[in-house]
Amino acid sequence: MKESDKGGGYNVGSTPKPGSPPIPSNPFHPTFGTSPPLLAGRDREVIRIARAFDHGPRHPDYTLLITGPRGSGKTVLLNEAEDAALALGWRVISVSASVSDLPSRIRAAAWEHLYEMDAGKPARRISSVQVLGLGVSWEERPVARSGLRPDLRGVLTAVAERLAPSGMGLLLTVDELQGLQLPEARELTAAVQHITRRELLPMALVGAALPEIEATILSDRGMTFFQRCARIRLRPLEPFDTELALRRPITDAGEAIENEALQVMVKASRGHPFTIQLLGYHGWEEAFGGRRASRIKVEHARSAAYEAGWAELEQIVKPIWAGLSEMDRSFLVAMARDDGPSSVGEIARRLDRSANYAQNYRRRLIAAGMITSAGRGKVRFLHHGTAEWLTTLDYHPGG
Ligand SMILES: Nc1ncnc2c1ncn2[C@@H]1O[C@H](COP(=O)(O)OP(=O)(O)O)[C@@H](O)[C@H]1O
Ligand SMILES: [Mg+2]
Repeated sequence: MKESDKGGGYNVGSTPKPGSPPIPSNPFHPTFGTSPPLLAGRDREVIRIARAFDHGPRHPDYTLLITGPRGSGKTVLLNEAEDAALALGWRVISVSASVSDLPSRIRAAAWEHLYEMDAGKPARRISSVQVLGLGVSWEERPVARSGLRPDLRGVLTAVAERLAPSGMGLLLTVDELQGLQLPEARELTAAVQHITRRELLPMALVGAALPEIEATILSDRGMTFFQRCARIRLRPLEPFDTELALRRPITDAGEAIENEALQVMVKASRGHPFTIQLLGYHGWEEAFGGRRASRIKVEHARSAAYEAGWAELEQIVKPIWAGLSEMDRSFLVAMARDDGPSSVGEIARRLDRSANYAQNYRRRLIAAGMITSAGRGKVRFLHHGTAEWLTTLDYHPGG
């Protein structure tokens, strides 16, 4: 490849010296909800979802719940599901439970789809945010249907009924499901239960939630619908897939990374998708952002690991910490004394509590995305730099 053919435009803000080769734009996206340059290690999940759409409402994955910690790639997988549905000619409603009044937003989006079908417009994705931006009040939309029940169930049923004869369907994706209020959850699940499960109409549901949903909606006795949904638990990527996620975008952009540098990044990422993007991004900037290196080298990878660790702390660890109880925090501080994985039994002793008590906090902190299991009876911090940060914090319960 000729130098002048190398991918992309220029980085915003980087000013190459006159005569030096152009700096191709950074291919990595360390931003929540933004699809990565290469979606690595999720083939099985994407295939599961596409197969369910293909098979219809009787397929177990037709109502599916994706769980995983922050930055594990839940929103990106929802986007993939939406793209798969759109490719089949389906209509899509894409909402997040972090907004208020979710049922009426879904209803508004469904109403808009009905209107667009009447008007012969092509299928598309309508998000909860777009619904607010619709010029005409959706309730005034003339929809040529008689006997339509205007509630959530009625409007969604009408959309699914309209799509069924042509073999199409409606996909409803709900992100941040852990934030759903119970009354809204009941209204939503009653509708899906009726339409998809009882009437066997083609309306698929894919939800995404933090693991803490186990302790809220999934442990509520009235919420059997979500308990019975098929599950995808997003795990860290395997080293092989992490390598691919880092190397391919670099080589696709016409640049290179030394193998040793790649190994430094793979190890530092621990397979966490958000961290992979952070590492790729900073590694690229270190190598090509200022003085132009020939490739990404170990020294660049080490600086990137430092930057990524800091970003993880700011964007993930500190926000979780802010929502933790005093006992959660004491557990973490007790862990921070260990150099490496901690024994839960030993933590219980340090806190002067029973082993059962400590087990309960272990579960809570795994659900919160702070720690992860490290073999029998052991836990470790999920994110880099957590122990060091806790040590500098000088935390005293009640203080
Ligand atoms: N399979 C993957 N391979 C590489 N990067 C990924 C993958 N999945 C997600 N990412 C990246 O990780 C970051 C977090 O993804 P996101 O879907 O927002 O996570 P979540 O919704 O679980 O918090 C984004 O920058 C995204 O591009
Ligand atoms: Mg997300």
